[in-house]
Amino acid sequence: MVPGTRVGLLGLGAYLPERVMENDEWTALVDTSDEWIRKRTGIQRRRIAADDESTVDMAAAAALGALEDSGLTARDLDEIIVATDTPEVFIPDTAAFLQARLGAPEVPAYDLGSSGCAGFVLALDVARARALSGDRKVLVVGVELLSRLMNWEDRNTCVLFGDAAGAAVVGRGENAVEILSARAGTDGTRSDILGLEVGGTRAPFSLDRARRGEHKNIVMDGRAVFREAVERMASCSTQVLDDVGVTVQDLALIVPHQANLRILEAVRDRLGATPEQLYVNVQEYGNTGSASVPVALWEARETGRIKTGDLVLLTAFGAGFHWSSMLLRF
Ligand code: UT7
Repeated sequence: MVPGTRVGLLGLGAYLPERVMENDEWTALVDTSDEWIRKRTGIQRRRIAADDESTVDMAAAAALGALEDSGLTARDLDEIIVATDTPEVFIPDTAAFLQARLGAPEVPAYDLGSSGCAGFVLALDVARARALSGDRKVLVVGVELLSRLMNWEDRNTCVLFGDAAGAAVVGRGENAVEILSARAGTDGTRSDILGLEVGGTRAPFSLDRARRGEHKNIVMDGRAVFREAVERMASCSTQVLDDVGVTVQDLALIVPHQANLRILEAVRDRLGATPEQLYVNVQEYGNTGSASVPVALWEARETGRIKTGDLVLLTAFGAGFHWSSMLLRF
C-alpha cells in the first residue's frame, strides 16, 4: 500500500461527566436493588451529566480530545457526523451546534440520529467512505445524555443507562488505525422492541402526553432485545472476520457496545473468544448508547490493553433494530 493511503482512525477522545451515581441511589427512587442490577446487568455505577451540561457540551469535550490526539485542530475538519439518540434539540441536528462550538469550517455537519447504540460504528464506516472518496478528515462523535430523557420512575429501563461521549477522527494517514472491514444491517420489522414513540409525527408532543410522562417512556422488550443483540452482534462480527480472512483467535480485543454484561458474555461465548479478549466497562458507566463503543475503545487504548499491530473488533446493536461491526488494526 502506498504510504499515506491507509484510511482509519487518526485519534480518539472521550468525555465522562463527573457525577457518579451508584446502584444504591436507585433504591431510593424505584423498587430495585444493587443486587438485582449487578446480577442482571453487571452495572455497578454510571455517570450523570450536570444540570448545566447539554449534549453538545459533552460532544465538544470528546471531540477536542480526539482532535488533540490526532494532532489536528477543528480548522482541519472536512466533515462532522454525530451519532446520538439524545440530541441538543429536535431541529436542527446536534452536529450543527458542534460545528459552531468547535469553530470548524463551514463543512457538512449532520447527525446519524436515532440509530440507537449501533450508530457510532455505522458513522465510522460512513466517515471511512467519505475519506476514501475525497481525502477528507471526518470527525465522528457518539454522545448520549440519556439521563435527561429517560423515565426516572421506570425501573425496567432507568437503571440501565448513563451519560457519556466518545469521538474519533477518521482520515488518511500512515499511522492511522486501519479500518479493515465494516458491516452493518437493519431489521425494521423489529422496530417495536426498543424505542421512544412519542415526539414524531405518529404521536406528536402534546401537553396531555407530557403530563402522562409518555415523552420519556422508552419502550423496551428486554428479553427480545437481549436475544437479537446476541444473535446480530455475533453474526455481523463473524462476517467482518471472514471479510479479512482472520479468526477470533487472531483478535487482541473485542470492544462491544456495553449494554449488559450477560449480553457481552453471550456474544463472547458465541464467537468462541476468551474472557481476556473481551473489553468490559459496563460496570463503571452503564449503557451509554452510541457513546459506549468509542469510550470503551479510548479507555482500552489508554489503559494499555491495545498495542500497535493488534486486531480489534468493534460490535454494536441498538434500536431499529440496527447492528454494526468493524475490524481495526492498530
Ligand atoms: O442499548 C440497548 C438497550 N437495552 C438493552 O440492552 C436491554 C437488553 N435486555 C436486558 O438487558 C435484560 O433483559 C434486562 C436487564 C432489561 C432485564 O433482565 P431479564 O433477566 O431479562 O429480566 P426480566 O425482564 O425477565 O425481568 C425479571 C423480573 C421481572 O419481574 P417478574 O415479572 O419476574 O416479577 C421484572 O419486573 O425483574 C423485574 N425487574 C426488576 N426488578 C428489580 C425489571 N427491572 C427491575 C429492576 N429492579 N430494575
